[in-house]
Amino acid sequence: MDRKQLKQVPGPLAGEIAIPGDKSISHRSVMFGAIAEGKTTVTNFLMGEDCLSTISCFMKLGVSIQHDNEKVIIEGSGLEGLQEPKELLDVGNSGTTIRLMSGILAGRDFHSTLAGDSSIGKRPMTRVVGPLKKMGAKIDGRSNGEFTPLSIRGQSLKAISYELPVASAQVKSSILFAGLQAEGTTTVVEPLSTRDHTERMIKAFGGEIRVEGKNIQVKGGQKLVAADIHVPGDISSAAFFLVAASIVPGSSVTLKNVGLNPTRTGIMDVLEKMGAVVTITNARDEFEPSGDLLVKAASLKGTIIEGDIIPRLIDEIPIIALLATQAEGTTVIKDAEELKVKETNRIDTVVNELKKLGADIEATEDGMIIRGGSPLKGNTVDSHGDHRIGMMLAVASLVAEGDIILENAEAISVSYPSFFEHMESLTAK
Ligand code: S3P
Repeated sequence: MDRKQLKQVPGPLAGEIAIPGDKSISHRSVMFGAIAEGKTTVTNFLMGEDCLSTISCFMKLGVSIQHDNEKVIIEGSGLEGLQEPKELLDVGNSGTTIRLMSGILAGRDFHSTLAGDSSIGKRPMTRVVGPLKKMGAKIDGRSNGEFTPLSIRGQSLKAISYELPVASAQVKSSILFAGLQAEGTTTVVEPLSTRDHTERMIKAFGGEIRVEGKNIQVKGGQKLVAADIHVPGDISSAAFFLVAASIVPGSSVTLKNVGLNPTRTGIMDVLEKMGAVVTITNARDEFEPSGDLLVKAASLKGTIIEGDIIPRLIDEIPIIALLATQAEGTTVIKDAEELKVKETNRIDTVVNELKKLGADIEATEDGMIIRGGSPLKGNTVDSHGDHRIGMMLAVASLVAEGDIILENAEAISVSYPSFFEHMESLTAK
């Protein structure tokens, strides 16, 4: 239990930081490297705890993986190279690890068990277990497969056509991993477009995938080949400093190497709508687009966030809520009931923790309403073991009058181990 005392920043934020690797892309780079044939080299890999959990699970499946700082080398021997693990596969706090790996393990000819921490133990798994069972998988868990530990006895799988009941890239990706091993062509139909890193990576590893609007099709029995992957910075991590620099008067900050995949840039659209000043420079388009972001403080106004944009900014809602407390007028967030099944119930944790700081914020069934303009003041708050809640509260300390004591600050290392170092470097001048 780490408790951190955080102070209001006396002046503007200034300087430049390189945003660490994208969490979603880092996970997938290890997964695809492990099931492809040959040596995959990943650079700018995110050394956060979630991605380290993925590495450790694949090592338990017999895959040789070396990592040294942000460089990871994976020696893949194809799907057939995965071996029955002798131990439980511990996914830690990582929903992406357990849900995507379930799709891989469902088609392997051995038994495996997946479990994680107390947060993972409360997160819904039927959303992946259900469709995987339709493909012929044998999976069980507490409450008829809804909760961990998940026990998977791999089977030969058959293709399905599946309409996702929730817009979830984890569920889509899990089915695509199973589809790569199934007999026939698997189709996934999304209600709203979600992050497409899995689809892009199938191509980067020499596979074929057809995407037509919200319809995605993958053929079973494809052989994937090793690739060199450079992971762009995580826009979900950059979001904390985009907001920090927007709300601390006089700030001017450059965030280098930020992933700008259009399925992830909802935060940029919201910032623009609210009046923030962000400029993209050095735009690059490799297998994932990226660029540098220059952000300057601005006066902000409230907005409505709903509908199609939600999956494009789902992980940024905690920090958007803080942004809204600093804007003039009211911000309404709707259609975001998925927040209830994240690392914590993020409607409750955001609303309760920001209220402790004096924010005018209320929870609704599918989001929250934030009335800007109430000054924040210091208090003791808690990440509740949720990395994004911890970082949002740390950014709040920059504008709150009086110290903030943040309990369970260690959770931040799940996705951004250098977060406090970066915050200090931007506030040092
Ligand atoms: C992720 C998908 C999203 C996101 C999570 C990472 C991924 O979850 O919230 O942080 O890497 O596919 P859902 O699929 O549950 O929406």
